[in-house]
Amino acid sequence: MSKNVLSNIDLSAIRQQFPILDRQVKGKQLVYLDNAATTQKPKAVIDTLTDYYSRYNANIHRGIHTLAEEATIAYESTREKVRGFINAKHVEEIIFTRGTTESINLVANSWGRSQLKEGDEIIISTLEHHSNIVPWQLIAKEKGANLRVVPIGDNGEFLFDEYLKLLSANTRMVSVVHASNALGVINPVKQIIEAAHRMGALVMVDGAQSTVHLDIDVQDLQADFFAFSGHKVYGPTGVGVLYGKKEILESMPPFQGGGEMIREVSFKETTFNELPYKFEAGTPNIADTIALGSALDLITSIGKLNIRHHEDELLAYATNALLSIESLRIMGNTPNKVSVCSFVIDGVHPQDIGILLDNQGIAVRTGHHCTQPLMARLGIPGTTRASFAMYNTFEEIDILIAGIQKVIRMMK
Ligand code: ALA
Repeated sequence: MSKNVLSNIDLSAIRQQFPILDRQVKGKQLVYLDNAATTQKPKAVIDTLTDYYSRYNANIHRGIHTLAEEATIAYESTREKVRGFINAKHVEEIIFTRGTTESINLVANSWGRSQLKEGDEIIISTLEHHSNIVPWQLIAKEKGANLRVVPIGDNGEFLFDEYLKLLSANTRMVSVVHASNALGVINPVKQIIEAAHRMGALVMVDGAQSTVHLDIDVQDLQADFFAFSGHKVYGPTGVGVLYGKKEILESMPPFQGGGEMIREVSFKETTFNELPYKFEAGTPNIADTIALGSALDLITSIGKLNIRHHEDELLAYATNALLSIESLRIMGNTPNKVSVCSFVIDGVHPQDIGILLDNQGIAVRTGHHCTQPLMARLGIPGTTRASFAMYNTFEEIDILIAGIQKVIRMMK
């Protein structure tokens, strides 16, 4: 039933690049299916970190010595790689942050605090991660603005007509997730953006879960802001990206104050640096940013389309196999998804499933996945989530299915 070698992907060569996949957990070969929480890191990323700290660790931009110059070149070349990866028009539209959460907070605080006024509206959707809810709630409360929430259907699908009804002359910002971390459902962001722009509103896209799976072209999408995290694209934790259209970023005040983001400081007045440095106060996460570049190089060398094809096959295979288990329901089983399977089993708590699968060496995520309002809408406390990456195999899905069947036998 299971197959191994796929289309244009040399799976065993890919797996060899991820040292962690060799390890054992509880005496069993690790089956890592928690990729939506964080992806594993290829050797190229690990080596880049070691190389930076072993050979050219230095602070960037300000130093004139050789190490500082090498570090600056490597850091800035990652900015250019990110630009190409998401097809931004200008390199200065790429701001490095700590991750998607900080990127959204940057926009909510800088744009939101300077632009929002009483009665303005911000639209989000029921599918949002807490990081695309709470920053907007905080700024809305401070400014007297209102949060509007697009409802979803029972399968987690974004209800576009309901969205159109919410859009109005009061809408200033629409901030939506591209692909749901909890369910994998892909939102029609291009159409969402077009509709928002017709009403004069800006759009922020949370790309934390989409960037690793889908081809991202921010110019084609016409996104005003787009955010993603390094650790979900095979890069390190602690680094992420905010893309913003140049003219919008230029009009926004700084987010944090400190070194690097200034042009001139006196006790009377401070003037600010140009983009992107205006939004990168203090010493950035140099090593992890450079290593993010290595992760993007790996994805590009394998080919986004090849990876997508493989992940789509894994998703279809896992979906069919999971649905063959009586008493199991997949939440968000829509046709347009990234490779995430979130499910519930009648009479078995997700946490028990997670623990019993871990005893078999299988890593999945259980709980609300930082989407409590979505879980409330679905009427469940949480799910068990298996999420697939480029290195996962059909055999691993077979092991997951056998593992779940064992759990059901134990619990019933
Ligand atoms: N947002 C991450 C997840 O979906 C942590 O698990």
